[in-house]
Amino acid sequence: MSRPLRQPASSPPALPVADWSRRVLRWQARHGRKDLPWQGTQDPYRVWLSEIMLQQTQVVTVRDYYARFLQRFPDVRALAAASLDDVLALWSGLGYYSRARNLHGCAIQVMQVHGGEFPHTALALQTLPGIGPSTAAAIASICFGERVAILDGNVKRVLTRALGFGADLSVGANERSLWSQATDLLPQRDLARTMPRYTQAVMDLGATVCLARKPLCTTCPLAQSCVALREGRPESYPVKTRKLKRSAQSLWLLWAQTRDGAVWLRQRPTPGVWAGLYCLELFDSYEALSAAVPETYHDRLQELPAFTHVLTHKDLHLHPVRVLLSARTKPSQEGGWQAADAWPGLGLPAPVRKLLQQG
Ligand code: ADE
Repeated sequence: MSRPLRQPASSPPALPVADWSRRVLRWQARHGRKDLPWQGTQDPYRVWLSEIMLQQTQVVTVRDYYARFLQRFPDVRALAAASLDDVLALWSGLGYYSRARNLHGCAIQVMQVHGGEFPHTALALQTLPGIGPSTAAAIASICFGERVAILDGNVKRVLTRALGFGADLSVGANERSLWSQATDLLPQRDLARTMPRYTQAVMDLGATVCLARKPLCTTCPLAQSCVALREGRPESYPVKTRKLKRSAQSLWLLWAQTRDGAVWLRQRPTPGVWAGLYCLELFDSYEALSAAVPETYHDRLQELPAFTHVLTHKDLHLHPVRVLLSARTKPSQEGGWQAADAWPGLGLPAPVRKLLQQG
């Protein structure tokens, strides 16, 4: 006899635990995604790479980056042997650059501490840079069939709705409680075969059926027992009260260029915005920017239209100012002129690359 799910008294008939994973797996076999480039492999390097890239980025964007990364760094040894600059350059445009720094750090640690082989358990995987509990569970379940639950944004949506889990997930204890229920629902048998599929299935359900807005409940394998659907308010789950505090910052970018197309770039300090990337000199005001340019050039400073770049925590209002300088001039102590055929290959923040490409 299987145990019924923990559910509030008003919920629809509880689904026996074993039926839950059975339904999810059957749905995956018929309707789940099958053609993602990181599917069909249990190579931990490939699975890890895809999971890190997918942490904050859409599948459509990740596809190309994933292919380019694998071509350049086919295994963990190649990635660990690369310079951080090369990794950041290849990551350029994907955003959230701490992921790239951790990726590189993780590859080095796998080589130095684990003899070039990723650990096989979620617990051990979590000790590596950039691998949190959910990513560790994804890798361990997909590659090694470990019975561990992932709990990313998509899966939280599926579970809170299906279970009618209305507690506030910004409270750590509530998230732990949901995680424990997610663990109860995992397949019990034939784990080497079922766990990789189940993990992919709950991700797919969240990404393609249990959508944040206008979920496609008529095609959901869990609709019959879904509490949120029965309540007629799937979109009110998950409950998360603590909203991200956003801020705004204005920055002036000195786009200094020479006649032959070299651009003055400096590597950004760590920590901070765009840490480790090559960037135009940044200033807090127009006055501070012009003070960095010799006075003879001041009447040649050209203000370009300002634009906004949205980061997770803040909106950056960017004000580019362009000037043609002689190659002998140095707009700052650090940094240097990067030739026209060199700067496109560097790791640049996406808005800076876009700006420079216009020139
Ligand atoms: N998001 C996170 N991991 C994923 C995966 N393996 N497939 C599709 N989307 C994902």
